[in-house]
Amino acid sequence: MAENDTAPSAAPTPSRYRTVHLQRAKDEGRRFAMLTAYDFQMAQIFDDAGLETILVGDSAASTMMGHATTLPITMDEMIVFAGSVVRGTRRAMVLCDLPFGSYELSPQQATESAIRLVKEAGVHAVKMEGSVRYADHIRMMTDAGVPVMAHIGFTPQSENVLGGYRVQGRGDDAAAEMIREATTLQDAGAFAVLMEMVPSEIARKVDEALHVPTVGIGAGAGTTGQVLVWQDMLGLRSGKMARFVKQYADLHTVVREAVSAYRQDVLDGSFPAAEHGFDA
Ligand code: KIV
Repeated sequence: MAENDTAPSAAPTPSRYRTVHLQRAKDEGRRFAMLTAYDFQMAQIFDDAGLETILVGDSAASTMMGHATTLPITMDEMIVFAGSVVRGTRRAMVLCDLPFGSYELSPQQATESAIRLVKEAGVHAVKMEGSVRYADHIRMMTDAGVPVMAHIGFTPQSENVLGGYRVQGRGDDAAAEMIREATTLQDAGAFAVLMEMVPSEIARKVDEALHVPTVGIGAGAGTTGQVLVWQDMLGLRSGKMARFVKQYADLHTVVREAVSAYRQDVLDGSFPAAEHGFDA
């Protein structure tokens, strides 16, 4: 994407965003936005705000369930989160992660899991972490009618192999290697490629080399779309943020102060007041 192609969306809003609209954005030099969501009400707000795409990420394992990594979340749990998000949307395209353990063993296993997410939760596409060894998985899921977004760069499900949260794609051959990987996945049928924690210049080169759209998180401004985890972006989570996060609100403070005001009102008897009762 060229430096000055920043127009958010000159295109008419479709009744439902689909892969074809994301492809059109790439073809016409436009960008699109994605956030994670895991529940009905946040999905409704994001959809109302005009977000093109919503990801039911396996980050739900930590953001919603308190696990230290994304590894423990199950298909059944993802289906509950994903169905809640789908029911909250009218326009946004909803993608759901294939959780760890639901696709690695074979293209058949991946396809069965992807079909469950479409059938039981109603998602419009799936995202799968992995590399060229999963090309056949992507081909079979796509042939079965499930659009697949490939996720490369830092892939949290492999953090035990990658040695923790680390920027990927550093080194002399990194750009060529990542382009080869992304192209293989695109050629296998991936409708888009997401890159996590990849140096901006490499991500930009990958985007230029692919005809399908790319999505970045910690991958600079050269990708077609951007994604963030909503609790980071809206400041619900406290603590140190990754440097690629831009915080647009401080919900943690808003919620803490509101809850503490409510508690104080209950303790001193000012809530409930007369107008909150049924006596008038
Ligand atoms: O699970 C997730 O939230 C993700 C995003 C960080 C891209 O995969």
